[in-house]
Amino acid sequence: MAWLITGGAGYIGAHVVRDMLAAGREVVVLDDLSTGRADRLPARVPLIKGSITNRRAVRRALQHESGVTGVMHFAARKQVGESVQRPLHYWGENVGGLQVVLEEMVEAGVDQMVFSSSAAVYGQPDLPDPLDRITETTPCAPINPYGATKLAGEWMVAATAAAHGWKALSLRYFNVAGAGSPDLGDPAALNLIPMVLAALDAGRRPLVFGDDYDTPDGSCVRDYIHVADLSAAHVAAARVVEAAHAGAVVRSPQEKLQQAAARAEQAATRLPGGALAVEVANQVPAAAEAAAALAMGRVPPAVRAVERATGALPWALRPSGAGGVTGQAGEIVAEVASQLGSLAAKVVGVEEAPRLVDHLAVNVGTGRGSSVFEVIEALRASVGDDFAVDIVERRAGDPPALVAAADRALALLGWRAKHGLRDMTDSAWAAWQVRPGR
Ligand SMILES: NC(=O)c1ccc[n+]([C@@H]2O[C@H](COP(=O)([O-])OP(=O)(O)OC[C@H]3O[C@@H](n4cnc5c(N)ncnc54)[C@H](O)[C@@H]3O)[C@@H](O)[C@H]2O)c1
Repeated sequence: MAWLITGGAGYIGAHVVRDMLAAGREVVVLDDLSTGRADRLPARVPLIKGSITNRRAVRRALQHESGVTGVMHFAARKQVGESVQRPLHYWGENVGGLQVVLEEMVEAGVDQMVFSSSAAVYGQPDLPDPLDRITETTPCAPINPYGATKLAGEWMVAATAAAHGWKALSLRYFNVAGAGSPDLGDPAALNLIPMVLAALDAGRRPLVFGDDYDTPDGSCVRDYIHVADLSAAHVAAARVVEAAHAGAVVRSPQEKLQQAAARAEQAATRLPGGALAVEVANQVPAAAEAAAALAMGRVPPAVRAVERATGALPWALRPSGAGGVTGQAGEIVAEVASQLGSLAAKVVGVEEAPRLVDHLAVNVGTGRGSSVFEVIEALRASVGDDFAVDIVERRAGDPPALVAAADRALALLGWRAKHGLRDMTDSAWAAWQVRPGR
């Protein structure tokens, strides 16, 4: 069982290759090395050098001896400006290439997929307040050929998944930044952080495009996501796709806790006395671990999480004296069981969990926006230089703000971003200094 990772020698794909290996998956990479580099791949990873537009190369990759059962599709052209100049090249690579991959997957009976989509599918969303968060149901209206090819790609994946009973996810990345390790930096000066670093390298002042937007400090606001977090989202996506494919009902953390609570309640009625918490803990981790800790007079991590989320401890701790644990354990398990489900909803912060039937699109962002000036400030701290910037005219087609609602990623994938802006600027700077060909 292996995942074929197209574009695995690229900036994002190379992170995912390493994380998938660390998660115990086998991977095979198909990459034409047009922007990727073979030396980003660990030596044991099979690399098939070829284009996704070349049917024979795609077939060879899908038929690799390691037994490919799913495809993560990163291979694409990604420059917005170039897509305006060369739209047919973008449609050919991003849509035509994807069509070849999908056709060959159908042919080979490979029916699990994770597709690299982009926040570019939303274009300039018409939100009541520009700083409102964009959900997956916000209408998609791309404003350049790159975004259009990504939306068409999602549609193609969704229709194929529906027709052939696949399990597939399209991950809509927001602004990807940083590096998981210094050798995996983003070499292309297309996004804000590498653009600033490239300008500093060239002895120029970095440019800020517009400071008169309707945002708190007047500069554009974006949702920056650390590439290591994005990579972790892919590992989570692979797990969800595999589980759905295996027929398991993919449940949200909220549902899992509710289930655990219900099972704990049943167990509590069957088992009397003090040994119960330990016994139940073996069967019902979430509720019973909490009960076991409470029974011993400690505040368990699940309850601490509730406290952090709600600002209050849900249970008053009881004294555990002579016979206390024995007397109380069953009662505590029952109480934990009855409350954990509804409390879990507060911790997890979701009302309804989506189900993966055939295809779903999922935003991958932090849910927090950072302005260009905030990024510049973080970069000044990372680089250790209080560099000046030049403020110039707005760029055409730059919306004031693009911030992801990340609730679906949490509910479906059990994933949320861990890294902040300084992690991104620090790691981008560390990688920039050792980039090849500098
Ligand atoms: N980096 C971002 O900010 C960002 C944001 C949203 C979406 N995405 C999407 O994520 C994916 C990966 O982006 P990235 O930043 O790692 O870019 P990248 O250019 O570093 O990686 C793309 C990889 O695909 C390979 N490739 C390109 N065309 C190919 C073809 N025809 N056949 C085989 N291999 C091919 C390249 O050699 C490279 O290794 C792309 O689909 C991109 O559209 C990226």
